[in-house]
Amino acid sequence: MQGLTVPHLYSSCSGDSSGLCRGQVELDMEGALTARAQVGIQDFVLLDETTEAAFLSNLKKRFSKDLIYTYIGTLLVSVNPYKELDIFNKQQMDVYMGVNFFELPPHIYALADNAYHAMLAEFSNHFILISGESGAGKTEASKKILQYYAVSCPSTALLNTVRDKMLMSNPVLEAFGNAKTLKNDNSSRFGKYMDIQFNSEGDAVGGHILNYLLEKSRVVHQNHGERNFHIFYQILEGGEEDLLHQLGLERDSQRYIYLTQGECAIVPSIDDNSNWKSVKNALQVIDIDAVNTNHLFGIVASVLHLGNVKFDSDSKGQAALNNNNAALRWVSNLLGVDAHHLQEGLTYRKIEAKTDQVLTPFTMDHAVYVRDALAKAIYGHTFTWLVNRINESMENTDPSKKTVIGLLDIYGFEVFNVNSFEQFCINYCNEKLQQLFIQLTLKAEQEEYEAEDIEWEPVQFFNNKIICDLVEERHRGIISILDEECLRPGDATDLTFLERLEDKMGNHPHFVSHKLADKKTRRTLERGDFRLLHYAGEVTYCVVGFLDKNNDLLYRNIKDLMCQSKNAIVRQCFSSMDPESRRRPETVATQFKSSLLKLTEILMAKEAWYIRCLKSNESRKPGQFDEALIRHQIKYLGLMEHLRVRRAGFAYRRKYEVFLQRYKALCPATWPHWSGPPADGVLVLVQHLGYFPNEYKMGRTKIFIRHPRTLYATEDAFEKCKHELASRLQAKYKGYRAKGEFKKQKEAATKIETCWRGVQARKERDRRAWAVKVIRQFIKGYMTRGQAKVTDNSEYLAFVRQNYLNKLKGNLPKTVLDKTTWLDAPHVLTETSEILRKLHYRLMVRKYVRGITPQKKEQFQMKLIASSMFKGKKDSYPQSVALPFADTRISDQNINPRVLQMIGNEHIKYGVPVVKYDRNGFKPRPRQLILTKTAAYMIEEARIKQRVLYTNLKGISVSNLTDSIIVLHITCEDPKQKRDLVLQCNHLFELATKLSIIANKQSAVRVVQGSIKIEIQGDKENTVDFSTGQEPMVFKAKNGHLMVVATRARPR
Ligand SMILES: Nc1ncnc2c1ncn2[C@@H]1O[C@H](COP(=O)(O)OP(=O)(O)O)[C@@H](O)[C@H]1O
Ligand SMILES: [Mg+2]
Repeated sequence: MQGLTVPHLYSSCSGDSSGLCRGQVELDMEGALTARAQVGIQDFVLLDETTEAAFLSNLKKRFSKDLIYTYIGTLLVSVNPYKELDIFNKQQMDVYMGVNFFELPPHIYALADNAYHAMLAEFSNHFILISGESGAGKTEASKKILQYYAVSCPSTALLNTVRDKMLMSNPVLEAFGNAKTLKNDNSSRFGKYMDIQFNSEGDAVGGHILNYLLEKSRVVHQNHGERNFHIFYQILEGGEEDLLHQLGLERDSQRYIYLTQGECAIVPSIDDNSNWKSVKNALQVIDIDAVNTNHLFGIVASVLHLGNVKFDSDSKGQAALNNNNAALRWVSNLLGVDAHHLQEGLTYRKIEAKTDQVLTPFTMDHAVYVRDALAKAIYGHTFTWLVNRINESMENTDPSKKTVIGLLDIYGFEVFNVNSFEQFCINYCNEKLQQLFIQLTLKAEQEEYEAEDIEWEPVQFFNNKIICDLVEERHRGIISILDEECLRPGDATDLTFLERLEDKMGNHPHFVSHKLADKKTRRTLERGDFRLLHYAGEVTYCVVGFLDKNNDLLYRNIKDLMCQSKNAIVRQCFSSMDPESRRRPETVATQFKSSLLKLTEILMAKEAWYIRCLKSNESRKPGQFDEALIRHQIKYLGLMEHLRVRRAGFAYRRKYEVFLQRYKALCPATWPHWSGPPADGVLVLVQHLGYFPNEYKMGRTKIFIRHPRTLYATEDAFEKCKHELASRLQAKYKGYRAKGEFKKQKEAATKIETCWRGVQARKERDRRAWAVKVIRQFIKGYMTRGQAKVTDNSEYLAFVRQNYLNKLKGNLPKTVLDKTTWLDAPHVLTETSEILRKLHYRLMVRKYVRGITPQKKEQFQMKLIASSMFKGKKDSYPQSVALPFADTRISDQNINPRVLQMIGNEHIKYGVPVVKYDRNGFKPRPRQLILTKTAAYMIEEARIKQRVLYTNLKGISVSNLTDSIIVLHITCEDPKQKRDLVLQCNHLFELATKLSIIANKQSAVRVVQGSIKIEIQGDKENTVDFSTGQEPMVFKAKNGHLMVVATRARPR
């Protein structure tokens, strides 16, 4: 640990439970901070203790629930799940778009989105550093970020082509720069820094890529179980027959020495064939034309052929190469260089001494070394050329100011059993990035303190600057010493380099070698090893190959040859190396050092975001959490260091407004509203909560809280209080809703009422208008009712007609006899009315007639006869009309049987009791008068007193008065026979009618005035006189006549 100590920061972390539960309120804080509701803790900064065990346990807990992301402040820790999780889709992107970091569970999209919005808001540049071991998910992470921007940034057709180019640069660079290794089937063998440029509207308008240290050695050598770069296999698997023919290739990777050393050309997880198609398509998208594409494939093929160039040993043991060597011919052919010169370049070194040139032949080993060096050089340069072409195609030439987000996908710390020059460079790179992180974080922290006016409290952490210096310091650093050894004349070897190191580094605390180590350490070191104590741990390097790799030499004559290549790409690449320059090119380490320096400068000018990727297990299996492996990575990625730096000062800080807004409910003075400045409100609040003075600091705009536990206690109290608050809010809200609902209903009711009234009023108005019209028409019609039918009166008349007919319907006469009931017709209907009237009577008559029985008919016929005889003639007739005629007035039972016996066969037609006045003296004698078919009989008891044959009946006379005397005039030849009969009968009209009918003597009936002459016997005559008086009487008058007095007829 170095300097910068603030002991009290750590010393107060243990002990009592923060003192927050003291006092009245049970305290409490934010962030359940969404976090604690989830599995584990979302932000390691809020971890109670900053131990590795606690860190690991939290990570494990979350990983077991597929929560692969966790924050350390704004740094994102990502654990490779080795399985597809459903959290990288469009919906998730939408969820995270524009949302603040802490509001949602940790996600790579949250980080990408926050960087983007910070960039837009502040118009500042940013970078996202993605680091981690090979296979930890760095490249996947960078792709996810790129996809997020591709989807979430505004887009236009033009922008889409830029976007496509950015996305499509990936398959090309992966084909040429990625390979299957033991750790990752798609391991990036180069470092990549990609700038995405945005205009002020936030549109992605361009991009730029910087590449670092391609692992060229892979072109000529692969470890067992690893492959060369993907492109070689892709071209052999996917290349069309024509193409292969043109390149002199056979579709069999086993034929190429550069592809067979790892002995695993075929990998199940890699589809070389379909990747080949993607690469070809991508090449088009990034604007590489057909000619260059051909050259590119020519180079790939030439490397394969170069690997197959075999040397023969001549008699002196020097390397010889047959001009006819097929592989050599293909190389010369594809690279467009002279075969002879190529053969020479691969077997001789040309040394120019003043004016002379001396050719020195190579040993066999040397020739192979030169061949491989050429292959590596060609491939390495081509890769750089590709990156440049991609950059040209993504370049944005618009001069307006842009901001960028850089994506750094770079190899993480590497520790193998045997570590060589490459690991040295890579680990050095990680030291530099750690240094950068420390500087940026501390800077940011310090700036915040300054801005908030809080006294800077130095932070305790390990500063790795000492290691960076050890490696890179001018003249004294490892790289300088290495370069010196490389350039030194004489027999410099890897071991002399180690000796020089030991001399110079003698007592450096981070450097150990076999010679310098104490006894115990020495046992763990070989003689050719040196060990560096990196910030992330110890790494032992084996010096073998350091010099060669650092030199990366290519002899001059070969370089010259390449500059004449007919393959434009090769020519271009080698020409740019400035072959005329006599100066030695910079060594690899120095180049790398300067590129890192440049990178550091680039990054220092930007705001940093970090993603640390962890591998969950070595076997790439989902769901496995290899604790040892992860602990190791936590260490190498410096996560604990990072956490400590973050936690060194205050674990939690928030703007006063935000803090107050969240926790104001915890203090009566701040609830529901705090009217003063938020800072004062927060002070009142935390004092009410009982914070100790050393637990927090009040900045200019933020409150700083030292320990997470203080925050948690506050959050717990808030959780509790939330329920209460919730029910209060609920009640209020319900009230509010109900009130609103009521108001709404009331308004609705009023509205409906108004509408309804309107409707009614309009109806009424229409009705009145209609009525006025109708009345007016009615009056007009009335006034013109007498005229011919015109428009004015037609309706009126129709109304009158209808009205009359309707009324008539209810007032029709009910009986045929009713001749008076008939509604008077209006003028227009007089004629109709008359017709109707007649029709109606006809109808009634018809009905009546149909209803009459035969008896009644007979009765009527008789009444008709009676009428013809007496109507208007005899005064008592009218009273008799209504009295029906009976069939007979004496039933058979009332006729003496003897009489019946005597006349029974004559068929009795009618019988009636009468009073007979004697012919002499006019004494009244009661008799029965029986009418048969042929004669009338006068019966007294059992005797027939007189039989009058109808043939003898001469006439029937009655008076015109109201009396009931009837006289039958009878002729008789026999003078002794009784003659006329004077009878009184109560049924006078009935008797007279029946008799006249039965005897067929209607014409013989006479109605007489004054008196009737009667013949008695022989020639004897008498008279019946009629007069009127007070009392009806019949008596024999003094003159011997029969006097009949009748009462006066009542007037009808
Ligand atoms: N977020 C992820 N979800 C699922 N699988 C992943 C994820 N990240 C990485 N992987 C798996 O791990 C492999 C290695 O990832 P990669 O990004 O190539 O590692 P690195 O670039 O760190 O070497 C990928 O091919 C993929 O199978
Ligand atoms: Mg990668």
